[in-house]
Amino acid sequence: MPELGTCCGQEAFSSLALGSVMLRNRIGFGPVNPGFGSLLDPRRAGDICEFYRQYAMARVGLIYLGGVAVSPEGRANVHSLTMHDPIHRRVIEQIAETVAAGGSTLAVQLMHAGRQTSSSEIGCPILAASAEACHVIGEVPAEATRADIRRIVTRFGEAARLAVKAGAAAIEIHAAHGYLVSGFLSQRLNRRSDCYGGSVHGRFRILREIVSEVRNAGAECVGIRVNVSESGRPGGTELPELLEGLLPLVASLDYTSVTAGIYTRSQDWIIPARKLGRALWRHQAAALRHGLGLPIMVAGNIDSVELANQVVQEESADLVLMVRALLADPNLITKWVDGRSDCVQPCTELFYCKYHSRGAPHVYCPHNPVLRKRFGADYHGAPRQATADSGAYRRMPYAARKSRTCEEP
Ligand SMILES: Cc1cc2nc3c(=O)[nH]c(=O)nc-3n(C[C@H](O)[C@H](O)[C@H](O)COP(=O)(O)O)c2cc1C
Ligand code: SF4
Repeated sequence: MPELGTCCGQEAFSSLALGSVMLRNRIGFGPVNPGFGSLLDPRRAGDICEFYRQYAMARVGLIYLGGVAVSPEGRANVHSLTMHDPIHRRVIEQIAETVAAGGSTLAVQLMHAGRQTSSSEIGCPILAASAEACHVIGEVPAEATRADIRRIVTRFGEAARLAVKAGAAAIEIHAAHGYLVSGFLSQRLNRRSDCYGGSVHGRFRILREIVSEVRNAGAECVGIRVNVSESGRPGGTELPELLEGLLPLVASLDYTSVTAGIYTRSQDWIIPARKLGRALWRHQAAALRHGLGLPIMVAGNIDSVELANQVVQEESADLVLMVRALLADPNLITKWVDGRSDCVQPCTELFYCKYHSRGAPHVYCPHNPVLRKRFGADYHGAPRQATADSGAYRRMPYAARKSRTCEEP
């Protein structure tokens, strides 16, 4: 299959070097915690691989396996994949083989959920930078001791080593969205008086230690995902502070990925509604790119090849991540290349994909062919019917499309 940069002359289709990894193009399927960890039956591995094969075969440059926990206590939810689990690791190996066979690159995002999970959900006590509850969860976490911090830093290193062994080309540290690391970075969430709190230097210390541990794990590419804004109000981590905290890390990182929002106050920035605007973090991404001189990825309401191309061309970011647009239509890139953009199935924004808040075990989108065919039966409340995939459908008024597609059965 010829690479797109050679046949289309579009900036987003040119290759990109991240560390020693060469990506086939600059469009990625962004981090999604797929919740496949509850499918412990290894026979489902084939279905899970099919989900990722869709993206590799449809010429997506970088494919994320998001939200993989570094330890059982770090799980965002009970369905999260964990690197320590040998069955999960076997599935991750198969995903890596599948992605590589399709010519794409696999990135594994490692996380610790901190206070944004609950002990009843994951079956063990929760901890965070400070003993302050997230209002959405309502459970007071224990303040991480120095021994806890050491253990967690080590777990990131071990998990990275296991992910590399399983075939991940890139390792990303999830330092965004209010989870454990992000909580340490934030002045509002981190009230510590020891060397892991206080100044920007103190609050970013845990991130420096994790990056150094992950770097030693032998990954070809190491990156971080950070919030460019926590809530837009004073006290949270915002752009100037972020730049100050990240500058000492530049030499150790191959890229930084940009997102925003935490569960308290700015949850709707994490998976932003369309009304918030398209490519909504592009200016912050450009500022970070300029300030750090590192390759930057950006996500957030980027829903077409044209927009991806624009963001790359204007040098706001080096790579564009799409999640919902590619969940709804994994063939978005190939349809564009074939001149069939009017056949792209748009995301219809009723959030079946926010599976956990719907009490479902794993990610779902009624438009996604593999999720519909192979996972529809075990998704509670998901419609079994395929939805229209045509230009006529796309030209329907938005309200009509919504009621045709994501409605409750
Ligand atoms: C089902 C789902 C799961 C997600 N899981 C993660 C995750 O594990 N880690 C992460 O950094 N972001 C996660 N996100 C956020 C996305 O990576 C992305 O930033 C967000 O959806 C905005 O991109 P979009 O507008 O293209 O959907 C998730 C989003 C969705 C819809
Ligand atoms: S489930 Fe709904 S909101 Fe999520 S990607 Fe599919 S269409 Fe979009």
